[in-house]
Amino acid sequence: MKKAYDIAVVPGDGTGPEVVAEGVKVLQAAASVGDFEIRFQTFDLGGEHYKRTAEILPDDVLQQLSECDAIYLGAIGHPEVKPGILEKGILLTLRFTLDQYINLRPVKLYEGVDTPIRGKGPTDIDFVVVRENTEGLYTGAGGCLKKGTPDEVAVQESINTRKGVERCIRFAFDYCRKRNHKKKLTLCGKTNVLTYAFDLWERVFHEVAADYPDIETDYAHVDAICMWMVKNPEWFDVIVTDNMFGDIISDLGAMIQGGMGIAAGANINPYGVSMFEPIGGSAPKYTGKKIINPIAAISAAQLMMETLGEPVAAEGIERAVAKVLREDLKDVAAGKMGYDTEQVGDLIADAVVSPKV
Ligand code: IPM
Ligand code: MN
Repeated sequence: MKKAYDIAVVPGDGTGPEVVAEGVKVLQAAASVGDFEIRFQTFDLGGEHYKRTAEILPDDVLQQLSECDAIYLGAIGHPEVKPGILEKGILLTLRFTLDQYINLRPVKLYEGVDTPIRGKGPTDIDFVVVRENTEGLYTGAGGCLKKGTPDEVAVQESINTRKGVERCIRFAFDYCRKRNHKKKLTLCGKTNVLTYAFDLWERVFHEVAADYPDIETDYAHVDAICMWMVKNPEWFDVIVTDNMFGDIISDLGAMIQGGMGIAAGANINPYGVSMFEPIGGSAPKYTGKKIINPIAAISAAQLMMETLGEPVAAEGIERAVAKVLREDLKDVAAGKMGYDTEQVGDLIADAVVSPKV
């Protein structure tokens, strides 16, 4: 009997449903030429659902999501819902409850895609950000006093546990070894100011490095990383960092790889249920216009295949994406693809099924 994967699809808000539909199409194409099946179940969550029902993430839905093989997410965020409600109530709750402690964000410039960095090309821009995904400033630790008064106090604490830091750093070393590229892992921190949190990160980094003598190690402060990512992106292979810095530098990474329409992310629990998403938001301005690039969502589907242990399907999707970007699409980085969202999905699905055409 064929292997079958149960994938929960959460199209979410804005352009999420449009891009996820193309990712599902491509996954179906990959399954049709692979030796596995995919069963999709769609869950209605997000801003529209919240406005209609006042429900954010009901317990029974969370339970069902935790029983599937992977979650495929479009976008969460609605212009008519106060910032934080849906992001915390859905996205962060899923990351935390399912203990998806890694946020993996490849930064790869494909041939045929323009980068705003003059003189750099696909061989220069090819690295991966490993972002810690369950701790740091994102835990909600802290509080406020005397809100709304002139004496207001707001505290937001960064939580870094030995266990959380170590498992993230170990994942990054393992990933760097498996990626087998430059075999270089860079810790991104701020040891000159955040002398508690990044002292822990730095000590654990060096301790764990002893188990990986084949991996070169390097360190850079987060502000310097922002500079080097623009000036010398070819220096990087894998970067490991905390939740907040990873959030920030991966948006910078998205820009140098051709924009939010290309950038994919994986929220990984190596021992549990992982979740895959394009990293751009819900883009309400573009909703329904069919102009949004589905490649970020399709590359997220590729990361899903890779994480589920279907490397052939993952490679097939990546080859198809590379082919379509190289040969078919026009000015992707400027947001003009020459095709609409569905047509791009069709081109990639076709290239997955008939790689030589
Ligand atoms: C991301 C997003 C989220 C984050 C938001 C929507 C909470 O920016 O996935 O990078 O900050 O992690
Ligand atoms: Mn972000």
